[in-house]
Amino acid sequence: MKIEFQSAPLAQLSATALVAYSFEEAPASSGTVEKLPEETRGLLREMHEAGELTGKAFECTPVRRPDGLSADKLLVVGAGKSEKFSETQLRHLAGAAVRHLRSRGVRQMAWILGSVAPSTITAVVDGALVADFDPDRYRTESNDKKGIDTLSLATGGEQFSSDAHAALVRGRILGEAQNFTRELVNEPSNQLTPTRLADQAEKMAARFGLVCEVLGPEEIQKLKMGAFWAVAQGSREPSRFIIIRYSPEGAPPEPVIGLIGKGITFDSGGISIKPSDNMHEMKTDMAGGATMLGVMQAVAQIKPRVRVVALIPATENMPGGNAYKPGDVITSMSGKTIEVLNTDAEGRLVLADALTYAKRLGCTVLIDAATLTGAVMVALGSITTGVFGWNKDWVNRLLAAAHHAGEKMWQMPVDEDYRELYKSSIADLANTGGRYGGAITGAMFIGEFAGDTPWVHLDIAGTRWANDEKPYRAKGPTGHGVRTLVQLLTDFAS
Ligand code: BES
Ligand code: MN
Ligand code: ZN
Repeated sequence: MKIEFQSAPLAQLSATALVAYSFEEAPASSGTVEKLPEETRGLLREMHEAGELTGKAFECTPVRRPDGLSADKLLVVGAGKSEKFSETQLRHLAGAAVRHLRSRGVRQMAWILGSVAPSTITAVVDGALVADFDPDRYRTESNDKKGIDTLSLATGGEQFSSDAHAALVRGRILGEAQNFTRELVNEPSNQLTPTRLADQAEKMAARFGLVCEVLGPEEIQKLKMGAFWAVAQGSREPSRFIIIRYSPEGAPPEPVIGLIGKGITFDSGGISIKPSDNMHEMKTDMAGGATMLGVMQAVAQIKPRVRVVALIPATENMPGGNAYKPGDVITSMSGKTIEVLNTDAEGRLVLADALTYAKRLGCTVLIDAATLTGAVMVALGSITTGVFGWNKDWVNRLLAAAHHAGEKMWQMPVDEDYRELYKSSIADLANTGGRYGGAITGAMFIGEFAGDTPWVHLDIAGTRWANDEKPYRAKGPTGHGVRTLVQLLTDFAS
């Protein structure tokens, strides 16, 4: 998508579709509709009186050859009640316009900016890019690029500062990073094996000037990643451990932020096999890893002054002849022994070794993202990510970043009393804590391997995927978490 500024008077813009928004209180004379020529607004007043224009949230009202404009079409998007207006709403309005137009064959869209405040520009650009994504890349019919080619940001005269330009670039970086994550999450497991995930990571790293290192099965065993290897050994697909480093010049030596993402490219459950009904959804079990790749892509471009290392243990969880079995006792890289009570609780095992390795590589703060538990979906549904951690400071930083980024996240408890639940009678730990409080015991199990290092865990099992279509985004992979983590890193470094 080409994205540019347009400072010509609105009446002269020749875009295929000019987009304005207005509020429910005054659908013909509020929001950016106010910036339209009087003739056009007269027409909109008539439409409002006829009940064709209400300003209700996401209502899309197209007007062909509107009076007073050279654009072929004017699209008025309802912005809802003005008191509820926010940056998130603005992002969604831009998205709704994109999805309305692209599904009708429009390729060129000019969005009228209500203000040239940088955060507004970022929201519109980001929202447009996220909306311009559909998960149907393997459909053979009508799959030729049907998206928006050109997005013009129009003010109808006002000039743009260099801040405005930087805001546009930031919006593009964020939208593209989120879509990169969504593309990876969307890929089926026969296409995106651990090897291909590592290839994608290397390609992204090379493109954006990051250092990428990929370990294979021999190195993983040599490093004694016994917990990761236990999961990996049941699959015929070779496992990969992906490490990407971002160390900008002039950044302080500490903190080094470790971003650890669960990279299970398919989770069959292993010997504790899952029921077949929704098993196909387990192609998304590398969403945590994909989140971290999206974050690294954005960070490489935004260049905050803070050191970051992404670590992604990537493997399938399969019930092959060599698979690990319930009752097995394994020794993790940390030396802690683990009794496997359920081979479907594989995420915490691969993350245990990834956290240990992150500390060994010098990370001083650990943040992990994982599609860890069905239990977090029972608790929070698909709307909100569960946030866990002992370190108040970093948990609060993360929650503030989520709020700022407009992603819904909610703190869940961790508490010593839950440790009882994943004690083993034969080893140091058991890999499950039973049904009740499953998201908490899963999180705390991972936390055991963080030790004294500040650690925050995001359970994105629910938020990784949207089961419904919204006016502003397709059904399917969401990329939830990317914006929050980028926000956290840029807030931290400024
Ligand atoms: N990947 C799953 C969790 C999951 C479930 C993600 C649904 C997305 C949607 C994870 O590996 C898993 O199987 N967790 C088990 C843990 C249990 C055996 C302790 C679960 O939640 O049932
Ligand atoms: Mn599982
Ligand atoms: Zn899993």
